[in-house]
Amino acid sequence: MQITASALIAACFALALGCGGAPSAAPASPAPVASEAPAPSASAAPVASAAPAPAALRATWAEAQGTPEQVAYMKAKVMPAMAKVFQDHEPKEFADFSCKTCHGPNREAPQKFLPKLKISTPDAFAKLAKAKPEDVKFMHEVVEPAMAKAMGDQPFDMKTMKGFGCKGCHAIE
Ligand code: HEC
Ligand code: HEC
Repeated sequence: MQITASALIAACFALALGCGGAPSAAPASPAPVASEAPAPSASAAPVASAAPAPAALRATWAEAQGTPEQVAYMKAKVMPAMAKVFQDHEPKEFADFSCKTCHGPNREAPQKFLPKLKISTPDAFAKLAKAKPEDVKFMHEVVEPAMAKAMGDQPFDMKTMKGFGCKGCHAIE
């Protein structure tokens, strides 16, 4: 189970690196205005089939199914939004913000790579908030809502216990 999952994740990252800059390099669909080109219907097919279709970009993370769609989603929706959030907060520390900031150098699930948080009880949360006030404030007020939005979800709501919260990224105990 574990091995399969990591292998899958590793493969997807390899894919992500392999297609670095792919979005801009993707074959543009033949412009109808190309005056010298034959009828669009004649030229469209061969061009389209020359490269594999890029993974569909879904509107929300929940809809992104399978590694290629998940990688496409992370690249298009999570990276730009979250790089800005972290870099606005700490330009130097997060100058090289990347997939690794959340997934680590070994491309693990964020819950495996990021520090485990002791916040399962209100007391424990209060203790962490006291020990690391800056981090907790930034995480709670900025990172969590921004990530929820990037994932097409709502920020975690204590009342409904639904939404994207700390444990979307951190392991909790
Ligand atoms: C801001 C943190 C963050 C960044 C940056 C980020 N991810 Fe993720 N990624 C996550 C979280 C959180 C999940 C788990 C979502 C869930 O619970 O389904 C995830 C899930 C994934 C998954 C699904 C498998 C898994 O580990 O759950 C893939 C594949 C993935 N990310 C690839 C990437 C790639 C490629 C990049 C860089 C282009 C990237 N991610 C950047 C936070 C991040
Ligand atoms: C989008 C994913 C994401 C979410 C959601 C998130 N965090 Fe984080 N958190 C991170 C990342 C990435 C780091 C590490 C930054 C770094 O590299 O220094 C971090 C670091 C921290 C740290 C500093 C840990 C240390 O030992 O230095 C604390 C504390 C923390 N988060 C608490 C929280 C709390 C509390 C929540 C929920 C309110 C939360 N985080 C939600 C991604 C997330």
